[in-house]
Amino acid sequence: MVSGVTIRGTTRLIGIIGDPIIQAKSPAAVNPLFAARGADIVSVPLHVPAKDLTTIWAGLKAMPNLVGFGITLPHKQTAIDLCDSLDPVAARVGAVNLVRREKDGSFRGYQFDGKGFVRGLQSKGITIGGRDAFIVGAGGASVAIAFALVEAGANSITVSNRTLEKAEALAEAVNADFGRKVAKAGGPKPEAGQLVINATSLGLHDTDALPLDPDFLQPGMTFAEVIAQPETTRLLALAAAKGVETHSGMHMITGQADLTVDHICELWA
Ligand code: ATR
Repeated sequence: MVSGVTIRGTTRLIGIIGDPIIQAKSPAAVNPLFAARGADIVSVPLHVPAKDLTTIWAGLKAMPNLVGFGITLPHKQTAIDLCDSLDPVAARVGAVNLVRREKDGSFRGYQFDGKGFVRGLQSKGITIGGRDAFIVGAGGASVAIAFALVEAGANSITVSNRTLEKAEALAEAVNADFGRKVAKAGGPKPEAGQLVINATSLGLHDTDALPLDPDFLQPGMTFAEVIAQPETTRLLALAAAKGVETHSGMHMITGQADLTVDHICELWA
């Protein structure tokens, strides 16, 4: 039994591949959602060391009742070259976090970091449309989130990053894609009322430097994390103590789980 679902010979399988894999949260997140829809699909963790990825990938491909798999570290980037086709978001970000078996048997790579983040915020009643966002960081997570925010109707995006050139490159890529000047690189200080996002890895460890001066965070802003573990980072706790509306990275996990289940069920439920 997985979350009240009986596993039968007819049950379809979705994996989550990574190394290590014991930390994987997606089976616990998606199995109740598949069960709630009455979908005969279960998610299981698959421990795939980097050196064996290509061999195991071929095995997964040859297994017709495997409808896809989530991808976690260290395979998100290397998977790009193994997919038969890529969703435009995955191609743009250069990383894949869900592979779906399409009806012709091919493996297509998708990227739900940004959309999952947005869906997580929206599920908590936070409106993105018309909002001004301030993103700290310009790595893969920031790229995914910036595009998803503009797609969801954000009014403007300011990118603040240790390496200014990367913030400028991200803003230019967004502006080029949407054909208007919606994003810009900025300094370290967000403005009143902004949706402020820590999209760096700073906060994973208690000893990490803060990604942003907490004095810059004021009530009226929303502060959102990409870090799900710990659920409360040092900066998130400081922001909450100042009366800032805060949003843990856990909601990104639940947003991604919703999208994954929608996406798999669209073809295979
Ligand atoms: P991911 O792809 O998961 O987003 P990444 O590409 O390593 O991860 O990006 C991490 C982001 O956190 C980058 O914007 C990085 O800043 P740089 O572009 O200057 O490297 C930022 N970051 C990481 N460690 C940092 C630190 N100690 N101080 C400030 N920014 C940091």
